[in-house]
Amino acid sequence: MELDKSLDRILERTDAELAKHFYDTVLANHDDIAAFFDGVDMWYQSAILTIGLQTVVRYYRFRGKMQRRFLVALGHLHYTLRIPKSLYPKFIDSLVASIKMFSEEDWNEEVEQQWREALDLGVDTMFEGYVEELPIVD
Ligand code: HEM
Repeated sequence: MELDKSLDRILERTDAELAKHFYDTVLANHDDIAAFFDGVDMWYQSAILTIGLQTVVRYYRFRGKMQRRFLVALGHLHYTLRIPKSLYPKFIDSLVASIKMFSEEDWNEEVEQQWREALDLGVDTMFEGYVEELPIVD
């Protein structure tokens, strides 16, 4: 199954539940991640993470320039928030666990492998924005 289909099928079933479940678990399990979300509107954050995931999947599938520009800028925002790169692996592990839970019978090793590749590519692209000046992406 292609990843865009995997994500679409989850979102058709659950809408905002995936991101909400993810944040509930990641914040409960990791104080070092939770510290960055003090005072953040988690309803908005859940909605915007879903858009982030759609961008990650689309970039993985088609390597679009617009998605690349978004991911580098998103990385730069995280850099300005002083979010250490070391927090990303556990953020991704929790995210994959939530995606697995909501995938139900769609989940298999191949889908997991693709999700991990897509998220790794998304994070590597975000890390291009981990510099003082937002790089121009063309
Ligand atoms: C796959 C990796 C990640 C993705 C796709 C992602 C996605 C996003 C998106 C889409 C936003 C909203 C940006 C906006 O409002 O314009 C955001 C904000 C934020 N992210 Fe991430 N994120 C990732 C990793 C992380 C990690 C590891 C942390 C660790 C603490 C983190 C903490 C935050 C915080 C604190 C905000 C700002 C919330 C606010 O002040 O409104 N993110 N992220």
